[in-house]
Amino acid sequence: MSIENVLIVDDEILMRKFLQESLRRLGIAVETAKDGLNALDMLADSHYDVVFTDIKMPRIDGMELLQRIKGEFPDTEVVVMTAYGTIESAVDAMKTGASDYILKPFTVDQMEIILNRLNERQALIHENKYLKKELNEKYNFNEIVGKSKELQGTIKTIQQIASSRATVLVQGESGTGKELIARAIHFSSDRKNYPFIRVNCAAMPENLIESELFGHEKGSFTGAHAKRLGRFELAQNGTILLDEISEIPLNIQAKLLRVIQEREFERVGGEKSIKIDVRIIASTNRNLYESVQNGEFREDLFYRLNVVPLHITPLRERKEDCEELLYYFIQKYCHENNIEIFDVSEDTMEKLKNYSWPGNVRELENLVERSVVMGKRRLLLPDEMNAGAHTASHSKADSANGKINAGVTVREMEKQLIFETLRCNCWNKTKTAQMLDISIRTLRNKLNEYREHDEIPQEFALLSIN
Ligand SMILES: Nc1ncnc2c1ncn2[C@@H]1O[C@H](COP(=O)(O)OP(=O)(O)OP(=O)(O)O)[C@@H](O)[C@H]1O
Ligand SMILES: [Mg+2]
Repeated sequence: MSIENVLIVDDEILMRKFLQESLRRLGIAVETAKDGLNALDMLADSHYDVVFTDIKMPRIDGMELLQRIKGEFPDTEVVVMTAYGTIESAVDAMKTGASDYILKPFTVDQMEIILNRLNERQALIHENKYLKKELNEKYNFNEIVGKSKELQGTIKTIQQIASSRATVLVQGESGTGKELIARAIHFSSDRKNYPFIRVNCAAMPENLIESELFGHEKGSFTGAHAKRLGRFELAQNGTILLDEISEIPLNIQAKLLRVIQEREFERVGGEKSIKIDVRIIASTNRNLYESVQNGEFREDLFYRLNVVPLHITPLRERKEDCEELLYYFIQKYCHENNIEIFDVSEDTMEKLKNYSWPGNVRELENLVERSVVMGKRRLLLPDEMNAGAHTASHSKADSANGKINAGVTVREMEKQLIFETLRCNCWNKTKTAQMLDISIRTLRNKLNEYREHDEIPQEFALLSIN
């Protein structure tokens, strides 16, 4: 990156000649224009790295020329040349986007200093663009690990649809990577420099969902002390991820349908329609079509969301991804914890491949992280994996560790089931309670009881479940 072409704009012929000569001696190609209009014609014909312009000129003056260049040729740097006594115009010019200014009269050395500064600036801009590109690429697909044809098929679809505004419905079991996929869609689209807003529909209290999503006006309900922007407005020009969409109450579903159809809504308690340009991605670990059939989810909304359906395959159905994911996470967590990378025996790898991974990639990631922080430099497998249980068949009827022995108490079985489910859900109690079809309160009570009896397994105790 270095400055090669310069355009000099000045109405004084002597100034033009002086600058042309001096710059040519520095090995720079120089052309000249006698006023702003003349300069704009030349800029339309060819590219100049830098324009040096006088401020006072007939027809189009230097300030107007600067504005036009910043609007039409933003890659061209502008340096204003101004006389003593008019330093205010230099300040104005810098505010309008000039890269530098030089006070007349000046020497060739001063001119050279300015050019060196511009060269450094150009190099930084170039480097910055490069880093940004690298960052975006990293966010896009390198983070999605796995060569299975199922996952590669999903990545291909993402690449095809990323730049459109089409609504995407990502379905898959818990921990399969739905959020990762949603982020990849955003960061590989033209919207990547605008916000990516995630809304967890399951975590919001029902009476607040509407105001969270659409915002509210001051005084619209008790507690609404000030105007508040909703998540849709915050995501303007970007992407919104409606996570766990199946949990949205029916009355809010109607409002959401309108947003998708008309791209506009009103804040709670407001009358003004707000227009938005937001890409919508919805995700769920439930079968949304089943929810439609059960009357829990609006059919019309389902079809509006399901424009681009993405089904993320559970890990047990793409076992070939296990090994790559395993080494990816070992590298990641060893690096984060400053621990030397370790290897995994073939025997262990075999066990991993035979396991059914009900918590999917998240479960594998957690297994690695736990092993790394325990610092033994080997993979610490839970009992049931060592026992070789949990075969590829995954059915809810399978017991916690695959074996039911007569003589075991119901309480003991229940305890095992609870801890196994907690582990699959990475100790997320809400998800565990959902999966077990019990209330979160019941789950908490049971955990408290186990704690009182000192029955919490060590790996859970370490994570201080409460
Ligand atoms: N193919 C993959 N490559 C690398 N990391 C992955 C992959 N799939 C999932 N992960 C990681 O696994 C974890 C779980 O993924 P994510 O949160 O996207 O799952 P999810 O499907 O949204 O789960 P849930 O339904 O529970 O919200 C994350 O840390 C994510 O980065
Ligand atoms: Mg998720």
